[in-house]
Amino acid sequence: MNDFPRIKRLPPYLFSVMDDLQQEVMATGAEVFDFGLGNPDQATAPHIVEAMRAAVLDTSWHRYAPSKGILPLRQAISRWYDRRYQVDIDPEKETIVTIGSKEGLAHLALAITAQGDTVLVPDPCYPVHHFGFVIADATVKHIPLLPNANDFLKSIETTLVSMNPKPKLLVLNFPTNPTTQCVDLDFFARVIELAKEHKVWVLHDLAYAELAFDDYKAPSILQVPGAKDIAVESYTLSKTYNMAGWRVGFISGNPTLVGALTRIKSYLDYGSFGAVQVAAIAALEGPQDAVVELCKSYQHRRDVMCTGLKDAGWDIEVPKATMFLWLKVPKQFQHMNSLEFAQLLLREAHVRVSPGVGFGEHGDGYIRISLVEDEPRMKRALENIKQFMQRVSSGTLRI
Ligand SMILES: Cc1ncc(COP(=O)(O)O)c(C=O)c1O
Repeated sequence: MNDFPRIKRLPPYLFSVMDDLQQEVMATGAEVFDFGLGNPDQATAPHIVEAMRAAVLDTSWHRYAPSKGILPLRQAISRWYDRRYQVDIDPEKETIVTIGSKEGLAHLALAITAQGDTVLVPDPCYPVHHFGFVIADATVKHIPLLPNANDFLKSIETTLVSMNPKPKLLVLNFPTNPTTQCVDLDFFARVIELAKEHKVWVLHDLAYAELAFDDYKAPSILQVPGAKDIAVESYTLSKTYNMAGWRVGFISGNPTLVGALTRIKSYLDYGSFGAVQVAAIAALEGPQDAVVELCKSYQHRRDVMCTGLKDAGWDIEVPKATMFLWLKVPKQFQHMNSLEFAQLLLREAHVRVSPGVGFGEHGDGYIRISLVEDEPRMKRALENIKQFMQRVSSGTLRI
């Protein structure tokens, strides 16, 4: 594939190394616990499935859907923003339905950047935040995602002040995959102020808005007055409604950016299946009890996992949001990189996690655990981890 310049810029997904090892370990008959991908394991709520079933039987949805999404869904998105964040979104010009946020983000990158443009992307980050722009042939400049929001803000400011020419766009994602970091609205207000001062577009990914714990409420960047002058925000139904396989999300905010995405998508696709969009309306506008329950279930899993890991001797921070734990590789393994440690954990404890380096070089030294196994399996995995740590500290397992 050396003749294909765009493919050459896309290294094989690092996680495929872990896939191969997982197959190898499973072939020995071992029970493998998979905390790798952030792939929700629970079912979509029945009323959403019912809305889909009814829509599938309506043959009018069997035709092409408008590529920017059906108007009733765009109107439902507008009402959702108003209800959830008191943000005004024009369903005609300020929102577009995407085939999941991964598709929307990648195509937005292609729509608005090209060779010669530079974008600022935090490191570590969700891969499409980086590779969407790599595919578009833009230059990606990484800003290390510092754990303290004020330090990170300072670092964004210093970068913006020192760069010449200025970058075209800044990408953000809070609560963050993979690091679980959270910010408050003041952080976004300062980002918008800086972006306006330096004439930089802002793209915020709000995928984990609803998976927030202990009374933390994740803000939308669009709540900042005037944010729409310069920012768009991506949202997905994948996580909030356990609809990862359905492929539906939306990007809302600045009409110029939404318009650019609308234009490029009109050449590329016909959007999500109409019946899926009808189900998305049921999700956004129907009862939200399942969302509350889902959030509680992730919070419970977080607590079980954090307690168990601490008990096994792992020094960890408890996250306020997302479906992930972001853990420092324990001290006794710090001579290894995150991939080596993740491989060791899979081989010896039969627990699969994502190596932090898969999210950027500043992710090395960490691993990410996705809370997508149920409680009995989490407990068995924790027992394996505990025994693994004991074998290492007693010297039975030489590393
Ligand atoms: C931050 C972030 N954005 C986007 C996505 C992709 O979501 P979707 O299923 O809508 O493509 C994910 C999935 O894990 C994610 O973590």
